[in-house]
Amino acid sequence: MKILVLGGGGREHAIVWKLHQSPVAQKIYCVPGNAGTEPIAESAKISLNNFEEILGFIEEKEIDFTVVGPEQPLVEGVVDFLERHKKLVFGPNQQAAQMEGSKIFSKNLMKKYSIPTASYGVFTDFEEAKAYLDHLPEGRIVVKADGLAAGKGSIVCQNLNEALNAIKAMMVDNLFKEAGQRVVIEEFMQGQEASIFIITDSNDYVLLSPAQDFKRAYDRDLGKNTGGMGSYAPTPVLTKTIYNRVLREIIEPTLEGLKKEGILYKGVLYCGLMVTSEGPKVVEFNCRFGDPETQVVLPLLESDLLELLLSTVNKNLKNYRIKIKNEYAVCVVAASGGYPDAYEKGKIITGLDRVEPEVMVFHAGTNKENHHIVTNGGRVLAVTATDTTLKGAVDKVYLNLNNIHFDKMHFRRDIAEKAWKMLI
Ligand code: AMP
Ligand code: GLY
Repeated sequence: MKILVLGGGGREHAIVWKLHQSPVAQKIYCVPGNAGTEPIAESAKISLNNFEEILGFIEEKEIDFTVVGPEQPLVEGVVDFLERHKKLVFGPNQQAAQMEGSKIFSKNLMKKYSIPTASYGVFTDFEEAKAYLDHLPEGRIVVKADGLAAGKGSIVCQNLNEALNAIKAMMVDNLFKEAGQRVVIEEFMQGQEASIFIITDSNDYVLLSPAQDFKRAYDRDLGKNTGGMGSYAPTPVLTKTIYNRVLREIIEPTLEGLKKEGILYKGVLYCGLMVTSEGPKVVEFNCRFGDPETQVVLPLLESDLLELLLSTVNKNLKNYRIKIKNEYAVCVVAASGGYPDAYEKGKIITGLDRVEPEVMVFHAGTNKENHHIVTNGGRVLAVTATDTTLKGAVDKVYLNLNNIHFDKMHFRRDIAEKAWKMLI
């Protein structure tokens, strides 16, 4: 099979890396790709907004199957477009992708089907949102733009004044343009977060390893929110009891709800959870694999990824048995100095040849320039290792990360630390 992966980050490198192991994968393309995907997947400079150009590429290269990495093209309907042209493609259609594309859509679905989540209000008018805040008791509260905002649309506010500033920034000052014209104001939930990846063909589903992602820029969860500075799986935060509650109270009613609404959800449904003292609750849904969680869940997947994705697209998950390794995986992201704020690009990366062969260096933002690999993004590399113990995987990652250098590189030194301490 000839396969096309859309996207060019660490998640897509991990997807390409895993697909490459399939005996059925004859040739892989990654668009736009990066310096890490290039040795195993041919790159092409095509904008992911340009569906016609993507279709032209698929036809020219005689590609059999397309896998969509990021949310933007899914929410904009790339799957519907390619399916109309009779192409085989993995990912939810535009209607189903609203689970991520509209917070209001997913909150309303959760409410209708009694799926536990933070209590909330929806506002399209600034004065009404302000009046709502005036009636709330002082305390932490979360303001979310309804639409996509490159992962920056949720603002955790320490008090009502901050919340007022957040709704003003979104609704009056157009911080997120159209995406912030409608907002969700929701209860702050206290607890530990976990990410669950459900792969569903709209009738049946399988689960990947539950992961945890580290969103803040610096150690001890200090600094700004980022796209994710590291991850590990499986997480002990989800004990067997809680995991069973997640299945019964969240995953099954959500999939059932989607079906009752007549929504054909085929693809990955990413469920961000908060394990609170009242039990697990949904923080958000996404319509694609997580980044950097994919970099840990795919190395733990024993099954052939291509077969899994094709079984999903062909609505054949009923007979599919997923195999997950009985190990741990840890990923630490090396980021550019300044990230998540402004940063420079084009720094030469050295030491990649000193990484042990069993350690995976997924490229997130890299480019090839005059025989050098250089930085080309905020998140640059996602260094990943597996081991039979969580601590073993942590040690391998940090040992190898110390060999890699680029000017102003920074990374968190506490990824998975609380969890490995919990396990010993
Ligand atoms: P989201 O964009 O919805 O994934 O939110 C980004 C991050 O904000 C989450 O991973 C949480 O850390 C935090 N967050 C979002 N909603 C809530 C909430 N209701 N309570 C506490 N934290 C939240
Ligand atoms: N790791 C968070 C995300 O992929 O949205």
